[in-house]
Amino acid sequence: MNHERSVRLFDKAKELVAGGVSSQIRINEPAQVPLFFTHAKGSKMWDADGNEYIDYIQGMGPNLFGHSPDFINKQVNEDMEKGYVFAGQFERELEVAEMALSMIPMEDATIRFASSGTEIDQLLFRTMRGFTGRPKILKFEGHYHGWMDSVNWSVHPPLDKAGPEDAPVPVGESEGMDESTADGLVVCQWNDLEKLEKAFADHSGEIAGVITEPILANTNCIVPAPGYMEGLQRICRENGALLAFDEVITGFRVARGGAQEILGVIPDLATYAKSMAGGFPISMIVGRRDVMNLIGDGTVYHGGSFNSNVISIAAAYASLKHIQERGDEFYTDLNGKGLRLMEGLRDVAKSLESDLHVQGVGSVFAISFTTKQEITNWRDHARNCDDKKYQRFATEMLKLGIRLSSNGRIHLSSAHTDEDIDKTVAAAATVLPTL
Ligand SMILES: Cc1ncc(COP(=O)(O)O)c(C=O)c1O
Repeated sequence: MNHERSVRLFDKAKELVAGGVSSQIRINEPAQVPLFFTHAKGSKMWDADGNEYIDYIQGMGPNLFGHSPDFINKQVNEDMEKGYVFAGQFERELEVAEMALSMIPMEDATIRFASSGTEIDQLLFRTMRGFTGRPKILKFEGHYHGWMDSVNWSVHPPLDKAGPEDAPVPVGESEGMDESTADGLVVCQWNDLEKLEKAFADHSGEIAGVITEPILANTNCIVPAPGYMEGLQRICRENGALLAFDEVITGFRVARGGAQEILGVIPDLATYAKSMAGGFPISMIVGRRDVMNLIGDGTVYHGGSFNSNVISIAAAYASLKHIQERGDEFYTDLNGKGLRLMEGLRDVAKSLESDLHVQGVGSVFAISFTTKQEITNWRDHARNCDDKKYQRFATEMLKLGIRLSSNGRIHLSSAHTDEDIDKTVAAAATVLPTL
């Protein structure tokens, strides 16, 4: 597969754009250089050298319906004729709020819109601190909640720096971070109620709220152990702390009502972004009315020029309407495709005696290389998964026209076809013996 034009364009990019990319993860594209793309539609993408790929990155999750779906294009084109950014109210915003609230299991909740997952999680932390008057947020190792100083700690910390199992130390993910922000966090291991109890005991009366990815999409796509989420909710309540789900990946992707519908545990607050507008930048916080009232009356300040702009709201409207019109069949079909791909990869791995491992829920899942039956949290991943082997796998798959992310997370879209899935499984059967 020839990438000559991408190589030339990347040389130019390095002169113009820091590192040649606008989000650091893009540097890890499993090709010789980060590829340049000319266009994308449905499950497919085409690069500057004319190569075609079946895409499982799908914008890192937002493209729930594949690239550039006609029904979103139509709605956006129609609505954008009326204006882009009103810095004022319009009825479509209410329609989206109504639709979203009718799909999410939380009762008597209200919404605030913003533009990205990072941003909305910041509002979440401010709201939890504002409501409880307490200083700290408990976050888990292996979970990602955006790149801001206040939370970009201990996402994937090296184990030699991460501290004791039952009292991890915050490890910054970047140079240049404000070290004092670590004081606003308690870091804990996930999927382990004993460690959570200890964290609350060690920081008695200090924890405003807990943020968790309800299904750990940013590490091995781990579904919590039975009873863990119920326990987490109980411990939060006993300690007067709020429970928040970061549904930036899972929201509108794993089910109509997101992970909370699947897990049957309803948090006090939840944040959404990626899949809610089929690829357009929008996010929202949804939460208990009494907590959200603090944002409503300005006690907890929230602003943003691009919040609830006409274009993103149009895309969200088209997306949620599409899901509602297709009904349960939408998720049966989407998750069914993902489960079929997971099963196909498992079968190939078994027949070739490979340690390729898949874990997840269909519409989003993770590929790793491990001999363990199940990975349960970040430290388990760090100890037992061969990330370098995964990188080699992704590189070889790309050569066969299958585009996988550098972190192992696979996003299905409703545009993926059975043929795409068969081709992907066949490519894995070719690649695995060569690793
Ligand atoms: C669970 C989770 N929360 C928050 C974010 C941040 O979202 P954004 O990239 O839109 O800022 C991400 C991004 O990957 C995410 O996976």
